[in-house]
Parts: sequence; C-alpha cells; structure tokens
Amino acid sequence: MRREQRNKNKGGSAPLKTIDLRSDTVTRPSVAMRRAMAEAAVGDDVYGEDPTVRRLEETAAEMTGHEAGLFVTSGTQGNLVCLLCHCRGGEAAILGNQSHIFNYEGGGMAALGGILPLPVEDAGGLPETGAVLRWVRPANVHFAPARLLCLENTHNREGGNAAAPMAFRKLVSTAKDHGLSVHLDGARIFNAAVAWDVDVKIYTGLVDSVQFCLSKGLGAPVGSVVCGRKDFIEKARHWRKVVGGGMRQAGVLAAAGLVALRDNLARLAEDHENAAVLAERLEEGDHLSVEPCPRRTNMVYFGIRKEGLTAEELALRCRLKGVLFNPVGPKRVRLVTHLDVSRSDVREAARIILEEAANR
Ligand SMILES: Cc1ncc(COP(=O)(O)O)c(C=O)c1O
Repeated sequence: MRREQRNKNKGGSAPLKTIDLRSDTVTRPSVAMRRAMAEAAVGDDVYGEDPTVRRLEETAAEMTGHEAGLFVTSGTQGNLVCLLCHCRGGEAAILGNQSHIFNYEGGGMAALGGILPLPVEDAGGLPETGAVLRWVRPANVHFAPARLLCLENTHNREGGNAAAPMAFRKLVSTAKDHGLSVHLDGARIFNAAVAWDVDVKIYTGLVDSVQFCLSKGLGAPVGSVVCGRKDFIEKARHWRKVVGGGMRQAGVLAAAGLVALRDNLARLAEDHENAAVLAERLEEGDHLSVEPCPRRTNMVYFGIRKEGLTAEELALRCRLKGVLFNPVGPKRVRLVTHLDVSRSDVREAARIILEEAANR
C-alpha cells in the first residue's frame, strides 16, 4: 500500500511515488489489520471488559516474559506511566542524555511526576556503568534519591543501534545490585531482538518494566504495551487513568496490535537489510558521511560534508523528487526504513539523495 501522488509540478499525469523515510510511524494498517479491527470483539476496557485488549495484554506479557501487560495509547504514555509507578515526586531517575524520554517526551516525568532526571552520557546506546553508579549516592538530606535507571533499545538518536545482549545484561544486573529498578524504553525492542537473532526476552525479561510500540516497525496504527509484574501493572493501570489513557472499546485498536505481533515481527529483518543497502549506497557519495552503527537496525543517519548545504535544504530538494526524510540537526539527517518501503525504493531514494547532494 504505497502512496502515490500526482506530480503537479510537471503538470502531467505521471505519478510520482513518495518514498517516506521520515519514520517507521508512517505506515498504514494492512488489509488484514483493518479486517481484524472491524471484526474485533469489544467491551468497556476501563471496566476490564474488552476481550481483545486483554488478549493483547496477555500476549505481550507472555512474549516479553512478564506477568502482566497494559495497553497504552503511545510510547510516551507508556514511559510516563512507568516512571510514575517507579518514582514518587522528589525522587530521581537516571537516563541517557540522548534518550527519547529525556529529549522528546515533553519533560513529562518532571511536569507531571516531579521526578528529577539525572542524565548520563549514552553515546553508542548504553550508558557506562561508572556514569550510572555516580548517581547512586548514599542517603543524604541534599540528594534526590535515584530509584530508577531507564534504558533505550534500540536507541533512536544513537543511530538505531541494537545493544549487545551481554552488555545490556551486565548493566541491568549492576544497576539492580545497587538498588535501582530498571525500565526499558523498548519502543523498537523487537528490532533489537531481530538484529541479534535472539528471543526478545533476552532483554525484556531482565527489566522491571518495559514499554514497546506497536505503531512503529510493527505497523499497527496506534498503541504501545507496558509489561511488568502484576502489582506493577495494577499501579500502572491507575496512572494510565490519571493521565487520561483509560480507553473504552479499545479492542478495535488492540486487534490491529495482535495482527502486528502475528504478521510483522520476522519481517523486521527486511527493514534492516534495506537500511544496510541504503547506508552502503549513500557511502558512495562525496558529500555525505554515513554514521557508522555497530548493530544497525532500520535507521541510517548521515552528516552533510558539503559546505553551504544544510539538512533542511537537502530535505526540501529531495521532497520535490518524492523522497521524504527528517533533518535532525543543521547538517544531520535521519532515514528510517519500514514495511511500506521496498528494496527498490531504498535504491531509488539513495540515488535521489546523492544526486541532490551533488547538485548546486
Ligand atoms: C525510542 C522511543 N521511545 C519512545 C517513543 C515515543 O513513542 P510515541 O511516539 O508512540 O509516543 C519514540 C517515538 O519515536 C521512540 O523513538
């Protein structure tokens, strides 16, 4: 279901296909998803009466190695609800300075939870153990006590890198040994599992809470699931209501999530291969420098070496040729592959990007 646009600039009828690399959130629900949504059995989920939501929550819990799950509206809401469960106002959470929670979630933890963010460098994806432990300080009237470590895998701003399972395990275990709970922002945790060819529980089974997104590479239109212990999820259900996330006949959405988990997990490997092809092609140009990524998934970041050419300008030029992407800095660009982008699309996108970068 690729989008096609009329190329009005040329005044003709030749269709110009749009190759949308802005994010893996831009996918449209498949026919099977739409059918499942239309046919979903539903009830009032705030009363716990929606059988499809329950099935999604049970499926997610089982897949991630947890006792229970909770369907939430978004990744941001999932992360916020978990933070509100782990920390009280005046307590602190350690998190990466490049993390999504720290940079792109409106400061919800501080605004709504009074939780102090303690940032640590997470270049490469995972923070250094030493940096984390520096925030684990003895009880003292001066300090907001650190209760939680938040990790992100795959790591969006760090190239979509998938953390190595061993390094992840070590960090989680050290954090726990020092009395911290661990939350995983696993918006794209299935991409990480596919990239390392491991069961997702290798990551999710270690942490106290995880949120993963159905609406990104998995291709569902809406939603995330939070997983954790039963008592944690009961608490999370309360906080979800507080932040306005109690939904009623949400089975129509959960049904799409179930199809996403059934149909779209294994195919994430295709997105990763397409991103690798894209990176390889872009490396051929003189004006761009593709950022290396130790374990690439579905993202490619590149810098623009060419003097006078900004990411905004390149994005605008490529947009006119039907290739969409987001500038993420004055000279930095992110490209994301997903199920609505094929191998020939990435080849064509690379050709156009290289051509437009060379043009002056
Ligand atoms: C790593 C990460 N966490 C959380 C989110 C938030 O998800 P949502 O857009 O569903 O709120 C995103 C969104 O892109 C993300 O990349």
